[in-house]
Formats: sequence, C-alpha cells, structure tokens
Amino acid sequence: MPSLLIYGSYGFVGSLIAEKAIDRGLDPVLAGRDREQLREQVDEVGQPGRRFSLEDPDIVAEALEDVDCVLNCAGPFSNTADPLVEGCLESGTEYVDITGEIPVIESIRDRDDEAVDAGVTLLPAAALSTVPMDCLAAHLADRLPEATDLALGVDSFRVPSVGTVRTVIEGADDGGAIRRDGDLEDVPTAWRTREIDFGRGERPAVTMPMGDVSTAHYTTGIPNVEMYAVMPQPARTALKFHRVLAPVLSAPPVQWTLKLLAGVREGPSERARERGSAYIWGEASTDDGERVVSRLRTPDPYVVTTDAAVTVAERVLAGDAGDGFQTPAGAFGPEFVFELEGVEGFFDESTPDGTSPVSPLLQ
Ligand SMILES: NC(=O)c1ccc[n+]([C@@H]2O[C@H](COP(=O)([O-])OP(=O)(O)OC[C@H]3O[C@@H](n4cnc5c(N)ncnc54)[C@H](OP(=O)(O)O)[C@@H]3O)[C@@H](O)[C@H]2O)c1
Repeated sequence: MPSLLIYGSYGFVGSLIAEKAIDRGLDPVLAGRDREQLREQVDEVGQPGRRFSLEDPDIVAEALEDVDCVLNCAGPFSNTADPLVEGCLESGTEYVDITGEIPVIESIRDRDDEAVDAGVTLLPAAALSTVPMDCLAAHLADRLPEATDLALGVDSFRVPSVGTVRTVIEGADDGGAIRRDGDLEDVPTAWRTREIDFGRGERPAVTMPMGDVSTAHYTTGIPNVEMYAVMPQPARTALKFHRVLAPVLSAPPVQWTLKLLAGVREGPSERARERGSAYIWGEASTDDGERVVSRLRTPDPYVVTTDAAVTVAERVLAGDAGDGFQTPAGAFGPEFVFELEGVEGFFDESTPDGTSPVSPLLQ
C-alpha cells in the first residue's frame, strides 16, 4: 500500500485526522517535531512515528524519502508549508494540507511549475475551507459559465480550536482580502457586510480572508471573488475594532499573550462535533444581471475537515490528482464534496432562464 505520513499528527485536528486515516486502513506514519507528544500518540494508537522538525531542508527531504504522500496538519501553515513542500519536491512526495491561509495557498501555487517537473501533486486546503466552497464554486460556474463575480459564504460559527485561534492571531496583521479582476486585493477586516440567506432566513455575514478567495478563483477562473462568514454581533464588532487594533494586535508581546490565552482550551468536544453543522451558500453573477444561487449543508466544520483531508489524501495516493498545484474541485470535480459523509445539496435556487425552485433547506 502507498505510504501516508501525517505531519502535526498530535495536534487537535491532526489527531482526529490520524484516527480517521487509521480507521480507513491507510496505516499512516505519525510525525511531528515534539518527541514527548509524538511518543504518547504512537503508544496510544500503535502506529509508527517519525520525529523531525522543519528547520533543515535536508532532514525534511530525507524523512520523506520513502513516503508517497504527506498530509500536513501543522498550523499556522505560514511556518510549516514551505519546508514540507520543499521536502516533497526534493523527494518526489505528494503534498496535501488543511491550510485556510491565503498567502500559503498562493505560495504553493507559485511552485506549480516545479511540482509538474517533479511529477508531484500539491493540494493545499483539503478542509472545510476549502472543499465544500470550492465544489460549490465549480458547480455555480457550470451553471453560469459566463459569470464574472462569485460570492461564497459559510454559516458555521462555533468555538474554534486553539490551533485555529493561533492561526487567526498569527494572520491578524494581514487584514482582509478579496479577489478583483483576478488579483488579490487587501481590504480591511470585515470590509463588507451582506445579509445572506443560507437556507434558513437572512443572516448578516462579513467578508473574511479565507483560503476560498484563492482556490475558488483558480478552480473556476471567475475574476472577482468574495468570501463571507456569519459572525454573531460581538464578533462583528470585534472584527471592526480590529481595523483600529491591528497594529496593536500584531505587536510581539500582545501576540505572545493572546497565544497563551488561546492555549486555555483545546477544541470543540466530540459531542459538540457530532451536533454541529455548516451551511454553505454561493452566488455567481454576470455584469448584465444574470444570477444563480446554490447551497450545501454539511456536518460540523471539524468533522468535514477531518473527512475532507483523509479523502483527499486517499484520492491523491490513488493517483487521481494531476501533477502540480491543484484545488479540490479542480482535481476531482464539483461532485467530490458528496464523497464526504453527510453532505447534502446542491440546492439550486434559481436558473439562468429565471425558474426559481424553493431551496429544500427551507422546506
Ligand atoms: N482550512 C480549514 O478549514 C481548517 C479547519 C480546521 C483547522 N485548520 C487549521 O489547522 C491548523 C491546526 O489546527 P489544530 O486545532 O490542530 O491546532 P493545534 O492543536 O495547535 O495543532 C497544531 C500542530 O501543528 C504543530 N506545529 C505548529 N507549528 C509548527 C512548526 N513550526 N513546526 C512543526 N510543527 C508545528 C504543533 O506541534 P507542536 O505542539 O510541536 O508545536 C501541533 O502538532 C490550524 O492552523 C487551523 O487554523 C484549518
């Protein structure tokens, strides 16, 4: 069987992913930089472990020499994707990760030519952000091929894991981002608010710099992309204040304290994950007023992320993705999202010829 190495396997999401990969018979090698945490996990689950850190490129390439695919779960990915991608290109290993960070996805895409030459797949963002949104984007582009604008949204607000909080803090000084005329454009955090009907009435959502701003554009070629997320009022207010607070938040002592505070709680409990869900919305439109809307409903974000990461790794190991930089729907098509357990849709609200079936989510 081709071999899978899970880097960051003892983190909160990494351990959920490792558990699922074992359940699916992938027999993964567990890996990370911390000897104690890795040993504890290896003893608990009975899989082989490999300890290495990412500072020395030669050590990384050597550690991946006999590995067919790396699944990187070690975030913030701004610190880990680059050395692991480098190691993969050198050792001829496929690369998958669960980042939602736009600069990381962009820098992986910049290595497309090298990856094609090396015969290696680079498939970042195999997670809630971006698998469902990417597949929805591809579906919308199929419905309205001449679309010039794409808006995507997710309604899944829940208490995040510590690692997600750390990643958000790490990127706090970057502000927001949208895509305009094919290029990334910096905008303030929570730059635009929109009332969006995710299938259960309108809710206020704000623009967020999620990885979908990158992937949906590369999958569909649509030049203008905005990504929205539903936020409760206190979070929306905090995000608005963040525009003023950004320089303060990004100061090293403040980041250090925030990271310590974030360390208080690990992540959502099993019970919370079982009960959670996410509502995904997308709208494609043209300059002359054509508009199509579709929706998806998924299980809890952490359940989707776990399933998406392992399913993508399985497909990559099976040789189903092409060489070079890939997006989830670009590699496997819009229907790929239905390979994930419990995903429902596509719920299409209107068609270019004007018919408007009611969304089943509303029934
Ligand atoms: N795209 C999405 O939809 C999505 C969904 C869920 C999570 N995520 C992202 O996934 C990441 C992990 O989340 P989590 O909750 O699992 O976080 P976590 O519990 O803090 O785990 C992070 C893991 O990464 C490792 N790590 C961090 N920095 C490293 C470095 N420089 N070198 C080597 N290892 C490093 C940690 O190892 P040490 O303990 O040794 O530091 C740990 O194993 C976060 O960035 C989060 O934002 C994305």
